[in-house]
Amino acid sequence: MARGFRALGLALFVLFQHIGFSAGAIVNRTIDDTAGDEVTGIAPVFLPPGMWNPPDCPHCDIRPNASLSFNGTYLETTYLPAPESEVGPVSFTFNFEGTALYLFFILVNGLDGITYTEFDVKINGGDAGKFVHSPDPTSQDRFAYQQLTYNITGLPQVNHTVEVITQGELRAYVNFDYAIYTLDDALPPSNTTGSPVVGPRPTGPEQTTAAPSPNASPSNQANSPTTTRGSSALTSMNAMYGSIVGGLTALLVALLA
Ligand SMILES: *[C@@H]1O[C@H](CO)[C@@H](O)[C@H](O)[C@H]1NC(C)=O
Ligand SMILES: *[C@@H]1O[C@H](CO)[C@@H](O)[C@H](O)[C@H]1NC(C)=O
Ligand SMILES: *[C@@H]1O[C@H](CO)[C@@H](O)[C@H](O)[C@H]1NC(C)=O
Ligand SMILES: *[C@@H]1O[C@H](CO)[C@@H](O)[C@H](O)[C@H]1NC(C)=O
Ligand SMILES: *[C@@H]1O[C@H](CO)[C@@H](O)[C@H](O)[C@H]1NC(C)=O
Ligand SMILES: *[C@@H]1O[C@H](CO)[C@@H](O)[C@H](O)[C@H]1NC(C)=O
Repeated sequence: MARGFRALGLALFVLFQHIGFSAGAIVNRTIDDTAGDEVTGIAPVFLPPGMWNPPDCPHCDIRPNASLSFNGTYLETTYLPAPESEVGPVSFTFNFEGTALYLFFILVNGLDGITYTEFDVKINGGDAGKFVHSPDPTSQDRFAYQQLTYNITGLPQVNHTVEVITQGELRAYVNFDYAIYTLDDALPPSNTTGSPVVGPRPTGPEQTTAAPSPNASPSNQANSPTTTRGSSALTSMNAMYGSIVGGLTALLVALLA
């Protein structure tokens, strides 16, 4: 009997060690608009060149307080549709190797100037979601800092290419501050390029606001994110079963000893 309890104790110890080990390796990293990835230092590429402005931009009408942004920087632009402008879409791209992605923007309220924000997110070329912010004219605060505008979880931990693009028929203000991605840093670097992600519906503070954009098609919603969510659940289930199997194996070994 005493041997049974000892074995159970050992099994639980191994079980919790496994769980503790997997949980400890999950980390978040930032990609700042200017300083770039906190580990690699690689910054996003902003297009078209010269169209994105830092906080000290002399000709900018809308001036958020940079000291309230992540690491004191942001890059902003105003998108104007044709024929008002021939510049075309504005975008930025970056890579990350991880399982989740969060985008943080500075949003503007009030109807003074172009304060509407809109962007599409493409992950590995797939339509992974859209964000829309209609300015709140009643808001006391003109600026909303470090706002979570987009997130997706449950991705395989491979090399993902992200494109955040503003296009279409509405004028828009786009101010990118930083991104966060999640990874298991116990895993070796991946040598695999991610496949197109068809992602979640808009998230963030404007989730319930109807998009006034003529581009916002209901077909975005038809592409359900269940596959990515499912794979997320699968990953954690696999990890859990792994731990349980590890624990039970130890129990068996101890009982047979
Ligand atoms: C990573 O950041 C996101 C967004 O801020 C947060 O929800 C999540 O809990 C963080 N995860 C870890 C492991 O810190
Ligand atoms: C910007 O924010 C900082 C920190 O809250 C504050 O000290 C400073 O006065 C602000 N600057 C302006 C121009 O509002
Ligand atoms: C913040 O900016 C500085 C440069 O001003 C850079 O060295 C540092 O890595 C940045 N920190 C993060 C977390 O991006
Ligand atoms: C990410 O988005 C989902 C909706 O897709 C939301 O339920 C969840 O709270 C968001 N996560 C965070 C950390 O905000
Ligand atoms: C990820 O893929 C991009 C585009 O193919 C490539 O430029 C980059 O070097 C890759 N990064 C890693 C860490 O494999
Ligand atoms: C990545 O994969 C390619 C072919 O799939 C292979 O030739 C290359 O050696 C691999 N690189 C690393 C660092 O594993």
